[in-house]
Amino acid sequence: MITFNEQNKIFTIHTKNSTYQMKVDKYGFLLHLYYGGRTEGNMDYLLVCLDRGFSGNPYDAGNDRAYSLDVLPQEFPCRGNGDFRSPAIDVRYENGSYGCDLRYEKHFIKKGKYSIEGLPAVYADEALGETLEIVLLDKTCGMEVRLLYGVLPELDIITRSVKVKNSGSEKIYIEKLQSACLDFVSGEYDLITFYGRHAMERNMQRIRVSHTSQQIGSRRGMSSHQYNPLMLLAEKAANEDSGSCYAMSLVYSGSFLGEAECDSVNQTRIQLGLSDEQFSYPLAEGEFIYAPEVIISYSGNGLSSLSGNLHKCIRKHICRGKYRDGLRPLLVNSWEAAYFNFNGETIVKLAEEAAELGVDMLVMDDGWFGKRDDDNSGLGDWYVNEKKLGCTLNELITRVNNKGLKFGIWIEPEMVNEDSDLYREHSDWALSFPNRKPVRARNQLVLDFSRKDVVDYIYDQICSVLNQGNIEYVKWDFNRSISDVFSHGDKHQGKVMYDYILGLYDFLERLNNSYPDILIEGCSGGGGRFDAGMLYYTPQIWCSDNTDAVDRTRIQYGTSFGYPVCASASHVSAAPNHQTSRSTPLHTRGVVAMAGSFGYELDFGKMSCEEKNEVKNQIKAYRRYEKLIHEGDYYRLSNPFEDMVAAWEIVSEDKSRVLTSAVLLEIHGNMPVIYIKFKGLCPDAFYRNEEDGMVYSGAALMEAGIPIVSDMKEYQAWQFYFEKV
Ligand code: GLA
Repeated sequence: MITFNEQNKIFTIHTKNSTYQMKVDKYGFLLHLYYGGRTEGNMDYLLVCLDRGFSGNPYDAGNDRAYSLDVLPQEFPCRGNGDFRSPAIDVRYENGSYGCDLRYEKHFIKKGKYSIEGLPAVYADEALGETLEIVLLDKTCGMEVRLLYGVLPELDIITRSVKVKNSGSEKIYIEKLQSACLDFVSGEYDLITFYGRHAMERNMQRIRVSHTSQQIGSRRGMSSHQYNPLMLLAEKAANEDSGSCYAMSLVYSGSFLGEAECDSVNQTRIQLGLSDEQFSYPLAEGEFIYAPEVIISYSGNGLSSLSGNLHKCIRKHICRGKYRDGLRPLLVNSWEAAYFNFNGETIVKLAEEAAELGVDMLVMDDGWFGKRDDDNSGLGDWYVNEKKLGCTLNELITRVNNKGLKFGIWIEPEMVNEDSDLYREHSDWALSFPNRKPVRARNQLVLDFSRKDVVDYIYDQICSVLNQGNIEYVKWDFNRSISDVFSHGDKHQGKVMYDYILGLYDFLERLNNSYPDILIEGCSGGGGRFDAGMLYYTPQIWCSDNTDAVDRTRIQYGTSFGYPVCASASHVSAAPNHQTSRSTPLHTRGVVAMAGSFGYELDFGKMSCEEKNEVKNQIKAYRRYEKLIHEGDYYRLSNPFEDMVAAWEIVSEDKSRVLTSAVLLEIHGNMPVIYIKFKGLCPDAFYRNEEDGMVYSGAALMEAGIPIVSDMKEYQAWQFYFEKV
C-alpha cells in the first residue's frame, strides 16, 4: 500500500512485512527515512542534523550549518548539492560543468505496476501491484527526474526505476545513472555478491561493508560471469534463517555498477544501476532515458526467505509466456554429444535414442549454418548448411518429429566472424575502433546492435530460419564480451553500450511476439548473462558451461540466492566430465541436474544398457517431481563451499510434498554420519519417506534431521521424497 501524508509530506510504502518511507523536507529535497521490517507511524524522528564541518549546506538553509545533504539519507542523491558520497545521477553540461539540484515537484499514485518502454520490468495487474511516481525537477536546467516505485505488497517486493527527461532547451549529458540508492542511517552490514568466471559462475562472497568504496560491476557490455548484477545486504548476524537482509537485483543485461560504502559517520549507502564507464548519454530537449529496473526486497527472517521473495517475483512477474507456468520440455542437446562434428544422420540417430529413453526434445546446437565446422568462422551467415546436414532443415526437423521428438536450434545473433559473408559485405556493422585492429575473442566480433538497421537485418535472417519448419525451442547464445565500443552508425559514442542492450531487447521482444510458442533459452558461454533482464524474454538460461556435478552444486547454490530453480537449465553430461575430467556417478549427475530445467547433453549411443535404464528411471523420477521442483519453495540446507555435503530442498507451497537432495563432496576414512535438517515444513504434520515408508514429524525432520551414511563411494548422492500423511 502506498500513502502520502499531505501534512508532513511523508510517503509510506507498506508491503506485507516491510515498510519504506521518505519525506519531502522543508526545502523540497526528497529524504529517505526508513526501509526495513514493518513499522507504523512517521519515521522522520530518525533524522538528526549536526554541523559536520566540510559538509556543504544548500543555499536555502541560510545559516543553518547543521543541514547538509552530505549526511542526510537521500532517496536519489546527485552531484552538486553538498553530498560528497557517491551520486546516483551525474549530469554534465555543454560548458563542461557538472551537477544538479533536484527538488520535489509532484507525484502520482496508481493502481497496477508501471512498465518501461523498451526495457524489461516486473509486471503485475491492478490487483497485485501499485505504482508511485515522484517527479523531481532541476529548475535551472529543466531536467526532470521521475522516480518510479512498483509495489507488490504480498511478495515484499518494491521495484525502482528512473526516467530522466530533458525538459530544458540546453543539451545535457547523463554521465552516471543508478537505478536505486538505499541509504541507512545506522546498522552494521555485510555485502553479499556473486563473482566468478566462465565455467565457474556465481561464487558467493560475504564481506563487511567498510569505510571504503566497494564496487562490483561489469564493463563488458553484458552482465557477465565475473559479477552477477545481484547485491544482498545483510545485518552482521543475519543467516539463512534469521536476521534482517535486503536484496537488489538488476533487471538488465548490460554493463552495470553496484556500490556499497560506509561513510565517515557510519551510515551505509548501496546503489545499483548502469555502469558509468563508456557512458555519456546526451539528451537534447524533450529526450529521455530510463535507468533499468531494480527489484528490491526485504526480509526479517534471513536469506532463505529473501531468496524466496526474489524467486516468486521472477517466476510470476518477470518470466512471461507459455512456459512461465507450463512444464518445460526435457531435452537432449547435441553440444557435448557431438560438438561441431555432426551431420543430419547424427542428429536423427541422437533423436532416435533419446526417444527410446523418454526425452521430449532434441536441440541441434552450434554448427548447422554458414561455414561452421569449428568456432572460427560462419557467425553472421544464418543460412542452413544443407550440405553438412545432408538435407534441408525442414526435412531434418520432420525426421526428428517423426521419431516423436520436438526440435530446437542454437543461434548466436549478436556475433559475426571476420570469415563470414556478412562481415565481408558489412564490416562496419561490427563494433570496432576506426583505424585499429579489433580485439578478437573466440575469433569473433560483436555486431552493432545499437543500430536498428543491423538488428532488423539479423532479425529477418533468424526469422527465415525459424520459418523453415516446426522449431519449438531456440537457444540464444552470446559468446564474448564487448570491448571495442565504437559504432560506425550515426550516433554519439556515449550511447552505444546502453542502446546496444535496447537493440537486444527489441529483437527478443519481437521474437517473443512473433513466435509465442517457441521456448527461448538464454545462454552466454553458460551463465555470462544470467540476470533478471534476460529472464523477461527467456524463461530459462543455461546456468553454466560447466556440467560437472560437483562444481554445479556450487554454481547452483550461488545462483539460488537470486534466481528460481526453473530459470536454470541443467543437464546430465558424460563422465569423465568434459570441463573438469572428474567422474561422478550417473545418479549424482541426475540428482544435481534436477535442481533446474532438466535435460541431457551427451551421446546416448555411448551408454551401456544399464546406464540407459538408469536414464529411463531418472526421467520418470523427474516427471514426478517436475511440478514440485519448478513451483515449490527452495531451501539451501548446506553451504557446498564449506560443508562436506551439498544439500537443498524443495517444498510444495502447501507443504505437503518435499524433495530433498544431497551430494557428498568429500570422502574420508571412517566417515562421520551427516545429518540433514529440513526446512519449511509443518512442524505438527507427519511426513512419510516414499522409499522406506518411515514416518517422521515435520518438527523432527527440521530440528534433528535425518542421518545419511556414506557407502564409501565418491560423490554419492541421495534424493529423499516425502509426502504429508
Ligand atoms: C557456448 C554455450 C555452449 C555451446 C557453445 C557452442 O559456449 O554455452 O553451451 O552452445 O557455445 O558454440
